[in-house]
Amino acid sequence: MKKIKVNLDKKSSASHDICIGHDILDRMGLIIAKNHPASRYIVITDSNVSAIHGESLLNKLKGIGLSADMIEFPAGEASKNISTVLGVVERMLRIGADRSSTLLALGGGVVGDITGMIASLYMRSLPYIQIPTTLMAQVDSSIGGKTAIDLPEGKNLLGTFHQPRGIFIDLKLLETLSDNEFNNGLMEVIKYGIIEDAGFFRFLEENMGKIRKRHDDVLEKIVESSCKIKKGIVEIDEKEQGLRRVLNFGHTIGHALEAASGYGISHGEAVAMGTVTAVRISERLHDLPAEDVVRIEHLIKAAGLPGRIPQTVATEEILSRLKMDKKKRGDTVHFVLLKKIGMPFINGGVQEQALRDAVEEMKR
Ligand SMILES: NC(=O)c1ccc[n+]([C@@H]2O[C@H](COP(=O)([O-])OP(=O)(O)OC[C@H]3O[C@@H](n4cnc5c(N)ncnc54)[C@H](O)[C@@H]3O)[C@@H](O)[C@H]2O)c1
Repeated sequence: MKKIKVNLDKKSSASHDICIGHDILDRMGLIIAKNHPASRYIVITDSNVSAIHGESLLNKLKGIGLSADMIEFPAGEASKNISTVLGVVERMLRIGADRSSTLLALGGGVVGDITGMIASLYMRSLPYIQIPTTLMAQVDSSIGGKTAIDLPEGKNLLGTFHQPRGIFIDLKLLETLSDNEFNNGLMEVIKYGIIEDAGFFRFLEENMGKIRKRHDDVLEKIVESSCKIKKGIVEIDEKEQGLRRVLNFGHTIGHALEAASGYGISHGEAVAMGTVTAVRISERLHDLPAEDVVRIEHLIKAAGLPGRIPQTVATEEILSRLKMDKKKRGDTVHFVLLKKIGMPFINGGVQEQALRDAVEEMKR
């Protein structure tokens, strides 16, 4: 099992380890019992993961003598709302959870975001541990302590920063993940190569075939490298005051596309389209080399992700969603753009006409 330390030294109690391995649930139970003692452990999960991995985790925890319960809610982004939070909290109260309890978030980003939010609020906060089960959650959402739920007005509008006490990544859990969900996570992996590490980007280009077949060695390499990149950024800018914004590369247009399509386009697909659009804007306005544009578009295609925006999503709808984006300051929408692979920067604003042109170009 590999260990990566997340050093958040301003508040040393927030520092924690990311443990990565294959088939580690047994050992994880023992480490949790030893390093994160609690009177009661409550596994929070969704209706899909509960059946596939939840029962087995619960039995392992009970098997080593820990007091453990499980609470599940319906799978999917539609559950990421205040009624789910209140429903879970009600069940925690009935079980008798208090501040000596620890929550275990077993699932994808939806479970992680909801569990983190409940952990930061329940009885003025209790500890939680992330056990991510999607590639997206293993490489991205479980790291960094951002928690949130969605509001009718938009995604992730209500949330907190609350760091987990530990993150346990079991690569074996990915075996049951659908190809679509796996590809969604791959887009975040590609993003890390684009924004931070040209060498890692090259590795992805050379190994995409093996990665999509989920070979153990390449899977471990991409998860470990992604975790190191994300935690490095979080260590410098835990509360997203500056540098951490580069993690939104491709996401500003991606989120607008997701919303404009009525969430008919998946997150990974939307970020892929958003990335290609941001890359084209970078080429046009900031001289991103044409060779980098081609390499990024090829890699996204090789990962089974789309490089074009469907005609069915109205350009004006995308632009109006962009305007509503919570990252909007004044009259401009802030964008993360690219000088070259591995070198992003935050742009003060892209003119609406330039955005319209880029979106239209991506529909051809
Ligand atoms: N907090 C952050 O920093 C952060 C970062 C990125 C994304 N997010 C959030 O993460 C969410 C998306 O996460 P996601 O893509 O993991 O979606 P998700 O949690 O909805 O999981 C996707 C689907 O996969 C299923 N699933 C999960 N693990 C499985 C497994 N091992 N085998 C089979 N099926 C499995 C789930 O039940 C669900 O149906 C969004 O809400 C997004 O806002 C948060």
